[in-house]
Amino acid sequence: MKARKIKDRIYWMGSVDWDRRLFDSLVPLPDGTTYNAYLIEGSEKTVLLDSVDPPMADELLSQLEGVSKIDYVVSHHAEQDHSGTIPQVLAKYPDAKLISTPKAKGMLVDLLQIPEESFITVKDGETLSLGDKTLQFIHAPWVHWPETMVTYLEEDKILFSCDFFGSHIATTDLFVADEGRVYEAAKRYFAEIKLTSYDIEMIAPSHGQIYPRPSFIIDAYRDWILGPPRNTVVLPYVSMHESTKQMVDYFVSALVERGVRVEQFNLEVTDIGKLAMALVDAATIVVGTPTILAGPHPYAAYAAFLANALRPKTKFLSIIGSYGWGGKTVETLAGMIPNLKVEVIDPVLCKGVPSEVDFKALDGLAGAIAEKHKEHNFV
Ligand code: FEO
Repeated sequence: MKARKIKDRIYWMGSVDWDRRLFDSLVPLPDGTTYNAYLIEGSEKTVLLDSVDPPMADELLSQLEGVSKIDYVVSHHAEQDHSGTIPQVLAKYPDAKLISTPKAKGMLVDLLQIPEESFITVKDGETLSLGDKTLQFIHAPWVHWPETMVTYLEEDKILFSCDFFGSHIATTDLFVADEGRVYEAAKRYFAEIKLTSYDIEMIAPSHGQIYPRPSFIIDAYRDWILGPPRNTVVLPYVSMHESTKQMVDYFVSALVERGVRVEQFNLEVTDIGKLAMALVDAATIVVGTPTILAGPHPYAAYAAFLANALRPKTKFLSIIGSYGWGGKTVETLAGMIPNLKVEVIDPVLCKGVPSEVDFKALDGLAGAIAEKHKEHNFV
């Protein structure tokens, strides 16, 4: 695709990756994605913000064919889907300087072997004049990795937001046309972020479409970050011989009878991205797992690892499942979630197939969760 104009002397460049189905070899991308770079021509200097994933390098380089001079390349984020083609861009424009945070400089040297003398590192809040346009660099560690920053184009009030506010959707739409679709994709890609108090008229992320009405996605992020968790139990589970499944089925009914919403994920078949989305705002996680080799099933351990990495605002956690002769399932899973500041509600583990006593215990657990959600007025 050719470069596309966003505003006067501001262009989208990059690539639409229709076929990509997995990100970081982990997160499913059912709708593909885009890698967005942006070219800004000031009256004196020209800057390219980010690049594209290396397999898409030729597309970016062909978009740059008519651009005779680039003075600066800005790397918001060292992950290769944005930085991977920067070495080729610098080879094409050998006088261009590469702007990054100090931390990103080290990572770009390590990951892409870019020479140190190519860099200019910038402090949080530092500005760069392009003549009649001014960039302000805002450090935003942990937008995804610890080195990330975003750029505010002062005169045009555009926030170039890196992975922040991004969504994985391959489309020919340059601007967001279907906010509902983007809401789901952005939630799937939601990461810990800091909200800015800048006067923002447009948000141009590194993935997905540009937001001409940024309040929509800012409000969504504010809700995901600051809003209370919902009256929902997320229930990732795996079952080997149906005992844990029987418990899950009974427990889901028991929760629903008590007015608690449930999002149930069979880890054998589930889309991990959907599970990650559900974790964003659920009040409680209950992991369903059989005991295998004296511990949780590896799929359940994977779900616990994911939850620990995403650090959702979950308040309560429990475990249900069946065992054959013993083991340390609860201790092992509890040890895998040090990042979650949760109250653990007594697990329900049963020996073999669940009995009436076990179903009663599941009623008790469902009642305890419903009570906790009511106490906190989760809706
Ligand atoms: Fe889109 Fe963290 O890279």
